[in-house]
Amino acid sequence: MSRVVIDNKGIPPLAGICTYEEACKPGFTVDRSVELLKRFNYISKGLNQMLSAHLARAPEWEVKCAFGYHLWLDAEHSAAIRKRVSEMREPPLGLDQVPDDKLRVWLDEAIRGDDTIELLVGFYRVIRGEIIRALNRYLDEVNRIAEHPTYRLMRGMLQDQEEMLAWGEQALAALVDSPEKRQHAEQWERHLLAFLHAAGGIFRDDTPDPSYTATPRSDGQKYEMDPAPRRDERFIDPYNTSAQIDSYFWDENCSPEERAYSLVYKRLREMDVPEWMGPILYKIEGKPWEYYVDLSRQLWDETRHAMLGEIGLYYGGVPYYKYPIPMGASMILNTELSPTEAHLILWRIEQSLMPKQTGKQKEWEIAKDTGNPISLLIQDYDWADEVLHAQIGRKWLVPDYGSLAATTEIADQAMKAWGQAAGKTAAWSEQTEWWPQLIEELRENAKKLAAASTDA
Ligand SMILES: [Fe+2]
Ligand SMILES: [Fe+2]
Repeated sequence: MSRVVIDNKGIPPLAGICTYEEACKPGFTVDRSVELLKRFNYISKGLNQMLSAHLARAPEWEVKCAFGYHLWLDAEHSAAIRKRVSEMREPPLGLDQVPDDKLRVWLDEAIRGDDTIELLVGFYRVIRGEIIRALNRYLDEVNRIAEHPTYRLMRGMLQDQEEMLAWGEQALAALVDSPEKRQHAEQWERHLLAFLHAAGGIFRDDTPDPSYTATPRSDGQKYEMDPAPRRDERFIDPYNTSAQIDSYFWDENCSPEERAYSLVYKRLREMDVPEWMGPILYKIEGKPWEYYVDLSRQLWDETRHAMLGEIGLYYGGVPYYKYPIPMGASMILNTELSPTEAHLILWRIEQSLMPKQTGKQKEWEIAKDTGNPISLLIQDYDWADEVLHAQIGRKWLVPDYGSLAATTEIADQAMKAWGQAAGKTAAWSEQTEWWPQLIEELRENAKKLAAASTDA
């Protein structure tokens, strides 16, 4: 129906966003929009915390990689929603308050998922599934012109959520490989849906289905995360530090491939950083949201660095889990030091990587000299990321200790405590030498790949 004929000279009116008829629908009031945005915000923040709490504990490398990425997207979504709410004349904003105790109870159950199947069912199938349902409903009902900033924000969030859910469903399809596991996944899904239904869904207006009932696992207290990192059965000898991967690349007596791949291996080893940042994000409470956004971004960067190491070994024809990937750092930091000490140590390490002659610039120059293109690419971006990380550490740590000198001093004390505690992990491995075997394998692969490319 058209109420009146308007001469738009054939040019799409209303900036091409919708028709006049669509632009006449009532959409949401500002009050209702703010209420719903606060519910979306609470869930995004909750997901950021859930993934942070479980990244170290989840044994599958690929799950750690996705958690590292997705917890950053959740932090960004929360930041964008917070900004939007602040534009909607509703102070005080109360963005860190629990908007609905029933939503809290629902998320408190999801974080108590015990194995990877339960975690993926909860965080992906149930929670992201509900977010997608609610975002689609919102986008369907919103007045696109009156509430355009929210409309645009939600379209972006929907795309991210759909991609995350697709990953979660593919991972579940691989892990749920028996009737017992299927039943286990379905039981946990029904358990969580009972609490979601009780909250009326994100829109708070779903009629509860009385057939869904469950006894909560939560006792109402904050979930106590288990920070001890785990790796699955593909990973061998995680305390073997016989390879001097922190020094081969410096050594001019080492071959170019040895120097290039010691840098690649240094990146691969970085999975311990997201593992040790998880407890920092989950346990340190009460900071402005920007703190969690910055640290989530850093956690994702460190996950990417480990993935770049994984890619570097793929380039050399070696599965990333074939040789030991040391895990002693995250094990000791997570179980024997506080999250604040772990953050200070991280910053101190990153600060020490900044000098031109000994730091990231030098690593990039070495990678360039080796002639290995993948190592060069990796070091180029690793260098850029680490400059950002040193700034993030300075931004959030120095104000807590008064000055750069005071922060450095306290960080050095934490480094010392770490050094003392870390010594014992050497005894947890027989320290069988493996590095020469890796280099030999890479050399053989390079010959084979060169021969294959000449044949082609
Ligand atoms: Fe890194
Ligand atoms: Fe870093």
